[in-house]
Amino acid sequence: MDISQIPRLEDLPLHPGSRVLVRVELNTPLDHGEVADDLRLTTELPTIQWLSDQKAKVILVGHLGRPKGKVDPQYSLAPVARRLSELLGKPVPLAPAVVGPEVEALIAAMAPGDVLLLENVRFEAGETANSPEFGAALVALADCYVNESFGTSHREQASFMAPPAALPSAAGRLLFREVEQLSKLLDSPTHPFVGILGGAKVSDKLGVIEALLTKCDTILVGGAMAFTFFVAKGYAIGDSLVEPDQVEACKRLLESGRVQIPVDVVIAQEISADAETRTVKAASGIPAGWKGLDIGPETAALFADAVLDARTVLWNGPMGVFELAPFASGTRTVAEAVGQSKAFTVVGGGDSAAAVRQMGLADQIDHVSTGGGASLEFLEYGDLPGIAALRASRRKEPS
Ligand code: 3PG
Repeated sequence: MDISQIPRLEDLPLHPGSRVLVRVELNTPLDHGEVADDLRLTTELPTIQWLSDQKAKVILVGHLGRPKGKVDPQYSLAPVARRLSELLGKPVPLAPAVVGPEVEALIAAMAPGDVLLLENVRFEAGETANSPEFGAALVALADCYVNESFGTSHREQASFMAPPAALPSAAGRLLFREVEQLSKLLDSPTHPFVGILGGAKVSDKLGVIEALLTKCDTILVGGAMAFTFFVAKGYAIGDSLVEPDQVEACKRLLESGRVQIPVDVVIAQEISADAETRTVKAASGIPAGWKGLDIGPETAALFADAVLDARTVLWNGPMGVFELAPFASGTRTVAEAVGQSKAFTVVGGGDSAAAVRQMGLADQIDHVSTGGGASLEFLEYGDLPGIAALRASRRKEPS
């Protein structure tokens, strides 16, 4: 993608008191009613702070969870407002609704530089339906628009589509960096380019594996999705996870000769921290009553070697149930290799990003994406609807 076509914050026609609607990524885990992981919020602060420093009225809009188009208090953004206000060191009031006269009055009362958070945008059915009426109500709140929500830019939803079609618009700092870094993998990867894909479901990753096969020299497959490949190879998998309707697709991918699956796996009868484990060769099969829960040590060493020999590395998805100590070793070995590698390294997806952060390796990685589904779709299609909408907005004649 030609990233010079994406409008930047500096391109916005801002003046003190400009109302800027910022679509932010607020979908963060909660624990006992408080934000449990504020990575997504902290990565968006520079954009919010910059707009506030420009004396804009900063109006944040975003979603939490999937509340199905109606008000549902468990998805209120109140905890996010509290955390944002701590992080910014100033009050971030929460509007009682997303659009409407009450919200307009709150915005009118804002001082330049103030920050206001609108309630969960998915409390409005028009958001996920991308309804023109709801889109127009959002547009009516603002003079300018910023997309700082890379993590949801794969959704064709009103808060991504309507404002850039009507208002001067720009990418936030994080969104721009995400597109810039992920585009390097697609446009000019240095070879060897090794992709490591894990996670539970092969059906979620099929498109991205196919797209990456046109770019990568090797794709290493771990995690539970490897067992559907095992079935494609004719290996017994015991009680491991499998997606029978994906076996044929896995056979086709294996025929490319560039997809490598584990040669050994750690198995157990139950997924628990004190489970008895064994390591078995993949080709010998997993006995009935047992399931594969991590790649084995031989596989982990092979994957680590491939990573250390590579010049570009993309990692998405854990190699096993890394949250539990008996099944964490494969993910840790891969994470350490990605951290040590001299290659250009990108980690995408919620779980693998969490793993590198938990292991204290995030600083050793060139880019840890804040997007889960969004980063996979970007790698598959080379673009996302929310980003295309920004580029189209730039091409519009000023009205
Ligand atoms: C995410 O957490 O991946 C994004 O916020 C998108 O959420 P969604 O899958 O509910 O659209």
